[in-house]
Amino acid sequence: MPSESSTQAFSRGPVSANRRIELVVGPGGVGKTTLAAALGMRAAAEGRKTIVVTIDPSRRLAQALGLTSGQGRRGEPVRVDNAPGDLWCLLLDTEATFETIVRVNSSDHTKAEAMLANPIYKAMVRHLGGALEYAATACVQMLHAEGRYDLIVLDTPPTANAIEFLEAPKQIAEVATNPAAKMLASSGRIGMKFFGLGSGALMKVLEWVGGGAFVADLGHFLGEFRIILSEFQRRAGLFADLLASPATGVVLTTAATEFSVREALEFLNVLGRHGLRIDGVVLNRVDSPPPAWPGDDVVLAGLDRPGDRDPSEVLARLRDLHRHLGEQADRAAAARREMLARQPGVPLACVARMDPPPSSLVDLQRLGDTLWPGS
Ligand SMILES: Nc1ncnc2c1ncn2[C@@H]1O[C@H](COP(=O)(O)OP(=O)(O)O)[C@@H](O)[C@H]1O
Ligand SMILES: [Mg+2]
Repeated sequence: MPSESSTQAFSRGPVSANRRIELVVGPGGVGKTTLAAALGMRAAAEGRKTIVVTIDPSRRLAQALGLTSGQGRRGEPVRVDNAPGDLWCLLLDTEATFETIVRVNSSDHTKAEAMLANPIYKAMVRHLGGALEYAATACVQMLHAEGRYDLIVLDTPPTANAIEFLEAPKQIAEVATNPAAKMLASSGRIGMKFFGLGSGALMKVLEWVGGGAFVADLGHFLGEFRIILSEFQRRAGLFADLLASPATGVVLTTAATEFSVREALEFLNVLGRHGLRIDGVVLNRVDSPPPAWPGDDVVLAGLDRPGDRDPSEVLARLRDLHRHLGEQADRAAAARREMLARQPGVPLACVARMDPPPSSLVDLQRLGDTLWPGS
């Protein structure tokens, strides 16, 4: 579990009481899914009915959260047994989320079925970059509108660049609102070439769709999908407004390296421009400094069985390793100082690299308790 030396907690409890949505953002592989689960557990322990919308949990984490035991369908909330409070978890499913949007917002059942069977719709949901991000934001909107949870924690998709997460859903709207597409609907694929419409989100989708009743499919898709989307937006409100309201906060997770901190600082600026409120930054998997070098004699005496190797060579290698670990920890400490100096108003916490990685409910609970002390 977190070693004393490198894990440094936030100065106050999980997220303020007026938050209804907490986004956990950051570059891929830094610990978003892990920290989103730990934060969700911590909030549940404080007595808030919490749901963690997760995207790509490791197999062990999914097991710990009860997402693999077939209790529920993908895309549906599952209660986390043995959690320290009322904790729920939902494994995001892009197709299931879009299906709900279509069913709930179509004017009638037949139109919904026709849309769900439309090859252009299917290609968009399965292949278009931005569909996962759109589903994540829509899922949060729907849960928020339902009002069954005190807090929704969203583990954001592993978008290569975290900024893309905020921009990607626009592609879905573009598919339905592209004005050139209407011309296409009446002119078919020939028109696509004729009008020089080689790029854009809709064109990408069309490339995935084979031949067949293209003109009819496109006409129906364009006619209906825009109505469905605008009906969804009307009911759920504008996501950008929700993000910029005091109901939403952000926890940014990153690694404790110079590069990651610089990237994180840029991202904080972008989030600020989108009107989002930063509740905290976590530097994750921070390397602890090694214990002081005990002296060559002690190390030599402790060498188990140097075998055929020259002890002085072994000693030199160990000294190198020790220096390397020290430098790594120094770099992490410098990255932390940089973050504190550049964003003094943003709460900062550090999590030590753990071995083995945290994946059981007990690990996550201890991680959450350590990071967010009682409020
Ligand atoms: N503090 C930590 N110490 C050690 N391993 C960690 C720590 N935090 C996360 N991990 C591991 O790092 C990997 C990536 O974490 P994950 O939460 O899936 O990141 P992301 O969701 O950002 O891709 C996982 O294998 C996870 O168990
Ligand atoms: Mg993840």
